[in-house]
Order: sequence, then structure tokens, then C-alpha cells
Amino acid sequence: MNDLTAGILARLHGEGGYLSGEQLCREFGITRSAIWKHIRQLRDTGCRIEAAPGSGYRLLMLSGSPVPAEVALFLKTGFFGRVVYYREETASTNLLAKQLAAEGVPEGSVVTADFQSAGRGRLGRSWVSPAGQNLYFSVILRPLVASYRVPQITLLVAAAIHRALLDAIPGIDAQIKWPNDILIGGKKLCGVLCEMQADPDTTHFVVAGIGINVSQSRFAPDLQDRATSLYRETGIHVCRPELLAGVLNRFEELYLQWLGEESLGFILPHLERHSLLQGREVIVEQLNRRIAGTVLGIASGGELLLGIADGTELKITSGEASLGSTYTTNL
Ligand code: BTN
Repeated sequence: MNDLTAGILARLHGEGGYLSGEQLCREFGITRSAIWKHIRQLRDTGCRIEAAPGSGYRLLMLSGSPVPAEVALFLKTGFFGRVVYYREETASTNLLAKQLAAEGVPEGSVVTADFQSAGRGRLGRSWVSPAGQNLYFSVILRPLVASYRVPQITLLVAAAIHRALLDAIPGIDAQIKWPNDILIGGKKLCGVLCEMQADPDTTHFVVAGIGINVSQSRFAPDLQDRATSLYRETGIHVCRPELLAGVLNRFEELYLQWLGEESLGFILPHLERHSLLQGREVIVEQLNRRIAGTVLGIASGGELLLGIADGTELKITSGEASLGSTYTTNL
């Protein structure tokens, strides 16, 4: 879709009602048949546009796919999502984003796909990514911060998604599970996979990969007790490009603030208020050990603060936390 097609879509979306062919010709400086060609292209992407003799064109419905022109309708950012690479299908948006980042695309560029054939989760797991239902996207970042701060980005993303969910569905009871999950009713709604390319003194780029189950109504038997979607929880089909833009709007805001701060202190109240683990008994699994304790909070560096049986307080930098011994929320 070229800029003119996207411009016509934005104009129709902003108008809400009919816009005459004549008016569009005047505004875009093109002929009636050229306008018609762009309308046909928009219809081909799945937008429903009415053409009424004597009244003009009216946008009835967006396609709802996370295509650049539809994401742009809802963006309020300076640079996040101003360049969007959309694919109907790709192996993994993180994989493609890493290739593009290595080629030098600007910070804030986003890679999104309708379907991932090899979606990736944390710890080598896969991320089930059916077509036409959910959001899969990766944001390319080039943070000029000390390398020890880079892992904090995962929590920033989680907070941004959580805020965007509240914007989309006010009052939604979603919880953040340190460090990278959002759950509803103990079931996983979204996950974040941050990957980076760095050498000892420079972070070349970070790719923040985000998967949100939006409209998926069925899950495979092994997932159905552990995974959910916005539609399953609320009965609402949230508009995917609007939610994607909503996450970018919130993420850019937090990212810019974080760049100018020393720590995550400014977002801790939000993270703790909506934390699934706060005050709960957990078991944290790390590569070579399991630690049981009570979650006391999140430190300003992003670590999980764990009170253990001998009365000491541990700062956990990485690992997978499960609630108690019987209830596990891992995916
Ligand atoms: C997890 O919870 O394990 C993280 C899941 C991250 C999934 C997203 S979907 C978009 C991006 N591309 C991928 O291959 N993975 C991330």
C-alpha cells in the first residue's frame, strides 16, 4: 500500500461519513479513476468501503489486520511505529527484526506479521501464532544506556502492554507476572521476548518481541488451561491495529522516560500494584537451582525481591517464577 492509499484511508477514517469523489480528487490532486484505483486497493486489503452514487465513499470497517496504514490511524508517537514492516507470514517477527536491525533500520521500526510459522518464546519454547486472530510484533530499539540496564526493557514493555490493555478495555483485570508475562485469571494473555546484539561495551540493538492473544477462541488441549485471549476473557474483539498502536504509544512514552532516568523507579508502583506475584509464595527456577520464597516486590533495577526462609532477602535477576508448589503459570 503506498502513501496515497494510506492517506485516503486516513481521510475516510477521520471523516466518519461520506466523502465525495470530487473532494478526494481535489484534496489528493489526482483523477477520479485514480481515486477509484486506491479504493479498490483498500478493499483488496479487507477494508469495507461503501461507494454511494451522489454521496461518495464511506469507510464501513477496517480490515483489522496490523497493516501499516491501519496502525498509523491510531499512532500518537514520535518515532515508534513510524516505519512498519508487515508480512502476511513470516517465521518469527523477532528473527526478521534482528535482520533489519543489523541492516541499520531506524530505532522504533516495527516488524509485524499476521501469522508466524516458527514463533519463538522464552527459554527455547515456541509461541503458537495462528493467522488472523492475534498480534505478533517486534520493536527495534537502540538504547544508549549502560548494558546492565538493558534487561529492564522487558519490564518496561510489560508495563506498556498492561497500560494499553487498560486503555483498550477500561477496568480489565490483567496482571503482570515478573518479568515478562501478562495474565488474566491465572492464564497467559501475552508474552515478551527481548533479544539483543551487543559486545562488551556497546549494545547495537534490542528487539522487543510481543505476542498478544487478541481474538483467539480455541487453544490446543495442552494450552487451554494455561492460555487465554482478550476475546475469551471479555467477549470483545479488540481491533488489532488499534491495540498495536496503543502499545507503541504507551511504550514510547515509558521508554523515553526510562532513558532519562537512572532506574525503573518511576514505573515500580504500577508494576507492583498489578503484579501477580506480589506478597505470594513462589518458586523461582534458575538454570541450576530452585529457590522458594515470598515476593516482597521489585527492585528499582528490575530484580525480583524474594524473602527466603532464613530471613534474608534475595535479588533475583533472572529465572521463571511459579506460584507456590501446586499452581504453576508457566507456559
Ligand atoms: C514468552 O512468553 O515466552 C515470550 C513470547 C514472545 C512471542 C512474541 S510473538 C512476536 C515475537 N516474535 C517471536 O517469534 N516471538 C515474539
